[in-house]
Amino acid sequence: MSESFRKIAPYYDILMKRINYSGWVRYLGEIFERFRIKPRKILDLACGTGVPTLLLARQGYEIIGLDNSEEMLKVAQKKAECRIPNSKFRIPKWVLGDMRDFKIPERVDVVISLFDSLNYLLEEEDLRKAYSSVFNVLEEGGYFIFDMNTNFGFSQYWSKGSEVREEDGLLSIWRNNYNRERKIARLELTLFVQSPSSPPLIKGDKGGLIYRRMDEVHEERGYPPKEIERLLKEAGFQEIHIFKHLQFQRSTRSTNRVMVVAKKDS
Ligand SMILES: C[S@@+](CC[C@H](N)C(=O)[O-])C[C@H]1O[C@@H](n2cnc3c(N)ncnc32)[C@H](O)[C@@H]1O
Repeated sequence: MSESFRKIAPYYDILMKRINYSGWVRYLGEIFERFRIKPRKILDLACGTGVPTLLLARQGYEIIGLDNSEEMLKVAQKKAECRIPNSKFRIPKWVLGDMRDFKIPERVDVVISLFDSLNYLLEEEDLRKAYSSVFNVLEEGGYFIFDMNTNFGFSQYWSKGSEVREEDGLLSIWRNNYNRERKIARLELTLFVQSPSSPPLIKGDKGGLIYRRMDEVHEERGYPPKEIERLLKEAGFQEIHIFKHLQFQRSTRSTNRVMVVAKKDS
């Protein structure tokens, strides 16, 4: 089970508030249009707390969210239960599983994986396994659509030292570094979480907020687009496009994040 997201799961959505998930899901819609994809059943691989999963479910898609963190899935499930039903919303199915080797009850015609999830696979062999597992659950003619951080992006944004943030009363310290030789980016994340009140610490003190500290380490690996393409081909994918994220231009050496669209032949 995933250790990296165990403690931060309840706070993940606050920490990611600045991410324009709606824009990302809109871009997915543009990809569907461009490639004439009419998804019937989608798998959101490494769905986390289900932000993109639920946005797609609201559009009426039948969707399965899979993740290997029980804590992240718990948050996703809770959000789905609290959602005010609209006529289109279809409650997603949630599956606890490892993207390197997973099974789902039925095959799907689209697999998505967003927001660096595949970068969490630190060995080439693990990425190979994930691509093969996706290939096996896809129907003929199905698509695998995913983003990945690049080594260029890591060198630009993950080697800049530290940052302190405060969002909704949540204090966080982000310490990044990037090892160019190993192509591993490391984030040491420290959270200070408010507890509502505390007893007075000293005489005369009325009590007040206390902060609980949590630490987590996240590691991601960058894979050059050529390697991504080779591994996808080895897994059986035929038609492969590697775009700049949120665009339809081919990625270049100075692309921070790529969006990959890979097709399984009909
Ligand atoms: C950065 S989060 C992205 C979550 C979600 N896709 C999103 O867009 O918000 C990465 C997710 O990958 C999951 N993950 C990492 N390694 C995994 C693995 N081997 N199998 C399944 N999920 C994994 C983590 O638990 C986490 O939820």
